[in-house]
Amino acid sequence: MRIAVCPGSFDPITNGHLDIIKRASLLFDKVVVLVSVNPSKNCSFTQEERVEMIKECTQNMENVSVDTFSGLLADYVRDNNACAIVKGLRAVSDFEYEFQQSLANKNINPNAETVFLTTSAEFMFLSSSLVKQIALFGGDISDFVPQVILDQIQKRLRKL
Ligand code: PNS
Repeated sequence: MRIAVCPGSFDPITNGHLDIIKRASLLFDKVVVLVSVNPSKNCSFTQEERVEMIKECTQNMENVSVDTFSGLLADYVRDNNACAIVKGLRAVSDFEYEFQQSLANKNINPNAETVFLTTSAEFMFLSSSLVKQIALFGGDISDFVPQVILDQIQKRLRKL
């Protein structure tokens, strides 16, 4: 069984993330969306809230599950017999950071291969922080996040 891990902060999950998860689910037997800790980010949603939102958006994807982990990604990959880390690449600006992460993960766990999927063109500019900023100022984020979690995101972020 080929298991892939799709890690991220997902604060909150966007249509861009969902596109990568869907495409990964066609390439691997099983995909675990892993809500992980990025120490350089202050999140607006708790880990549990992010897990619940991802579950709602992926419930129609049979081979996708959601998990949360507060340790090193490379250790999670090893302990869960995953063969790949799947990341989306939007632009050249993502590359340097992702390249560094991928080499560090491989250094910690030599079996942790990172597979990059290029973003679909329509999501090239999209990020969770952009969504949060638009929502904060009352803008329309309905094109950017899955419909099922739109209300929840708007309610939370407008209060900030
Ligand atoms: O969506 P993000 O914030 O860009 O995702 C980054 C994330 C959470 C995947 C990354 O910070 C991560 O892997 N965190 C877990 C801790 C870890 O293994 N860090 C990398 C060591 S090189």
